[in-house]
Amino acid sequence: MKTLTEPFKIKMVEPLKVTTEEYRKSALKKANYNPFLLISDDVFIDLLTDSGTGAMSEQQWSAMIQGDESYAGARSWLRLEKVVRDLTGMPFILPTHQGRAAERILYSILGGKGKTFISNTHFDTTRANIEFTSAEAVDLVCKEATDNQSDYPFKGNMDIERFQQEISKRGKENIAAVIMTVTNNSSGGQPVSLENLKKVKQICVENNLLFVLDGCRIAENSYFIRHKEKGYEDKSYKQIAQEIFALSDAFVMSAKKDGLVNMGGLLTLRNEDLALQCKNLLIISEGFTTYGGLSGRDMEALAVGLQEVFEDDYLHYRIRSTAYLGEHLKAMGIPVVWPIGGHAVYVDAKKLYDHIPVEQYPGQALVCDLYIKGGLRTVEIGSVMFGKYDQEGKLIPAEKELVRLAIPRRVYTQSHIDYVIEVFEDILTDKKQAKGYKITYEPPFLRHFTAHFSPL
Ligand code: F0G
Repeated sequence: MKTLTEPFKIKMVEPLKVTTEEYRKSALKKANYNPFLLISDDVFIDLLTDSGTGAMSEQQWSAMIQGDESYAGARSWLRLEKVVRDLTGMPFILPTHQGRAAERILYSILGGKGKTFISNTHFDTTRANIEFTSAEAVDLVCKEATDNQSDYPFKGNMDIERFQQEISKRGKENIAAVIMTVTNNSSGGQPVSLENLKKVKQICVENNLLFVLDGCRIAENSYFIRHKEKGYEDKSYKQIAQEIFALSDAFVMSAKKDGLVNMGGLLTLRNEDLALQCKNLLIISEGFTTYGGLSGRDMEALAVGLQEVFEDDYLHYRIRSTAYLGEHLKAMGIPVVWPIGGHAVYVDAKKLYDHIPVEQYPGQALVCDLYIKGGLRTVEIGSVMFGKYDQEGKLIPAEKELVRLAIPRRVYTQSHIDYVIEVFEDILTDKKQAKGYKITYEPPFLRHFTAHFSPL
């Protein structure tokens, strides 16, 4: 069949407000041209993030009724712990309220001045938690990742050669951990191959380095391995994930992605001493070891979500529906990061709006136009997010000017996505009229969340 039908039907609906272009122009102006400052009722299709924005299944909702809200030793915790132990094979399992809480606990113990963390690419919160301890975070994504157009299937990989050089340069005793982010969110949601993970592991073993898996999209990564890497065609997605877990000494997870829940996180470990230190910090900051910031019903939903996410029909629909959007945009002539990753489509705004100089933020211009034309909310990943200033106050632009269209899980149907494609048709027609933006207010840190802009 040609149509990729959603492998679910809809039992409960959440109405979307239909607005006019005039209404959206005024709403965006009130939000100072920063879609983070819009109220969500004014957004028609929200592609800001895939984190915590998914829809839960009837099995998850019905499990929630059975949530045991006991402070200690809750039944719901035992259920979750069993599922996570079966999946990861790790003996020590800690619940947290979301991914960055697991990161803060682990990296504040491993980090500190003089330490280095090496990763294919650290996600922003990972880097922030590492740098907060005065340690350094080094990204070593493979060379293939710099070419947006090639078909190379595993652009999330670590550059093995540079990894070895970095160990020699810094000294293995100064490396706190090696973090493999699967899929590699900051480099376009691109997958990492098992071959690459195994090579990284081997080097970790040779140098006695801790191998940490940042695996919030591990099911999506397993899909790519089964379909693009030789030798895994006959394995189940869960078996592939388990091969990845077997390589890992520790696992941090934002369960808001492949946990299929709206809130939750995990930290799992093999080493007892390290687990004990983490448990102590967990109790101080998140909660007792059998709930770690989650309610019993949250843990029930997560226990079910971690099983549903590996189902064949779900994963096929998930990855193919993201690709459906990306492939259509590419065919229309919209420059996208290629191949399409698991959770999002990334548009190259510098190329699309090549008449807008980077100092006038072409990514922000596209984000604003997508909202005005179609009520879409997306996020700029370019010089608004990562730009810095030199001593004269001149912008040092980011490497790329991208706009991310992240797809919430099980939320939008094909007709919503066809609508997104039509909005891009309008963008192409009017592309020459697109204008840049200037920043009128910015806070000292993480400016993209709260900055104000005005159109030029
Ligand atoms: N690691 C990765 C790879 C992530 O993508 C995220 C979150 C985190 C860690 C932190 O998890 O939000 O639960 O504390 N990514 C979201 C995004 C926010 O939009 O890509 P968290």
